[in-house]
Amino acid sequence: MKLNRRISGRIERPADKRRYVRRLFAGVAGRYDLTNDVMSVGLHRRWKRRLLARADLRPGHRVLDLAAGTGDLARGALDQAARGAFEIQVVAADLTLEMMRVGRGRPGPDLAGWIGADALRLPFPDGAFDRVVIGYGLRNFAGLDSALAESFRCLRPGGRLISLDFGHPRSEALRRIYLGYLDVSTRVAGWALHRDPESYVYIPESLRRFPDQREMVRRMESVGFVECGYEDLVMGAMAVNFGDRR
Ligand SMILES: C[S@@+](CC[C@H](N)C(=O)[O-])C[C@H]1O[C@@H](n2cnc3c(N)ncnc32)[C@H](O)[C@@H]1O
Repeated sequence: MKLNRRISGRIERPADKRRYVRRLFAGVAGRYDLTNDVMSVGLHRRWKRRLLARADLRPGHRVLDLAAGTGDLARGALDQAARGAFEIQVVAADLTLEMMRVGRGRPGPDLAGWIGADALRLPFPDGAFDRVVIGYGLRNFAGLDSALAESFRCLRPGGRLISLDFGHPRSEALRRIYLGYLDVSTRVAGWALHRDPESYVYIPESLRRFPDQREMVRRMESVGFVECGYEDLVMGAMAVNFGDRR
């Protein structure tokens, strides 16, 4: 397994990873949305719509956008409800205030709140939400199982967690080609958009340590989720994982 030693040393221990990730996103916050559009050629919007389609939002739902960043999913959920002519309440929560500051400044419907919070210790009571949506968050958390358990706790019985993240194609050959492509493209994008080739090399590095979508189903089941599954996007290069709290 090829690992970038410099980054590896900074994300090995949970406390280090938390610090590294927070500093990373604080640094890129101003150009985060642009970077997303450039790196995915706009496709992240379509993938986020896939996640929201799986959320099956209903009138009155309370939705947590965890690791909300600039709030794409939060706003997408509100837009979806507006199209269906019903109301929901959406709270965005993120560790990095700089990301949410950029999100708050964007035009769009009003959220019920933007809350500074760590996914590993959420400041919400048990059963506070009907849906927890997470876009490109799980891979960044310093403790995946604790974050899954916290999301489970904050869902009411019958609630659902839906997460979108980089995935691992099933074929080993494809997986290697994909990671190689990410190694190069993230360097180019980091240099072009942030004048720092290292700023996005973290993506393939964190992906190398991140469970694939099939293993994620097992991890979700192990904290109590039921009806877990996943949807591959772009041949598994991206994936939406989901599961319900009974
Ligand atoms: C790649 S961005 C995703 C932003 C947005 N959800 C999207 O899909 O565009 C990852 C976000 O995870 C946040 N994050 C990382 N660790 C976190 C944690 N422990 N608790 C809450 N948010 C965290 C970062 O601050 C960052 O805003």
